[in-house]
Amino acid sequence: MIAAVYPGSFDPMTLGHLDVIKRASKMFDSLTVSVLDNKAKNALFSVEERVNILREATRGLPNVSVDSFNGLLIDYAREKNIHISVRGLRAITDFEYELQIAQTNRKLSQGALDTVFLTTSLEYAYLSSSSVKEIAAFNGDISQCVPEFVAELVKEKFKNL
Ligand code: PNS
Repeated sequence: MIAAVYPGSFDPMTLGHLDVIKRASKMFDSLTVSVLDNKAKNALFSVEERVNILREATRGLPNVSVDSFNGLLIDYAREKNIHISVRGLRAITDFEYELQIAQTNRKLSQGALDTVFLTTSLEYAYLSSSSVKEIAAFNGDISQCVPEFVAELVKEKFKNL
């Protein structure tokens, strides 16, 4: 059985993330989408809220589960007995950052955690959680960036800030 983890901040999950999740779920027997609980990052959504959004969005995908982690990804993956990390690549600008994370993880884990990259579908290549938040902060339309229920949650957040 081949298990993979898709780690990230997912603040919030975008249609680009969901596209990677759906495609990766077809490649592996199980996929754990795991939200990094990074206390240092000033997140819009709490880890619990991000996990709930991901659970709702992946309800129809039986081999996908959602979790959270803190600390190093390699330690989390070792505990879960997972040897593949999945990451999306949108553009060349992502590459350097992703290459560094992938190589660090492989080195630190002594080869136990490798990374598989999925190139983001072109229609989502422009998307990022940061731009979703910036658009929403200025009352812009994010309906093409995130599922409808997420757009509502993001709008609510900015109303109450
Ligand atoms: O969605 P993001 O913020 O680009 O995801 C980055 C993430 C969560 C994959 C990365 O920051 C990570 O794995 N952090 C956990 C700490 C860790 O393992 N660091 C070593 C690799 S540099």
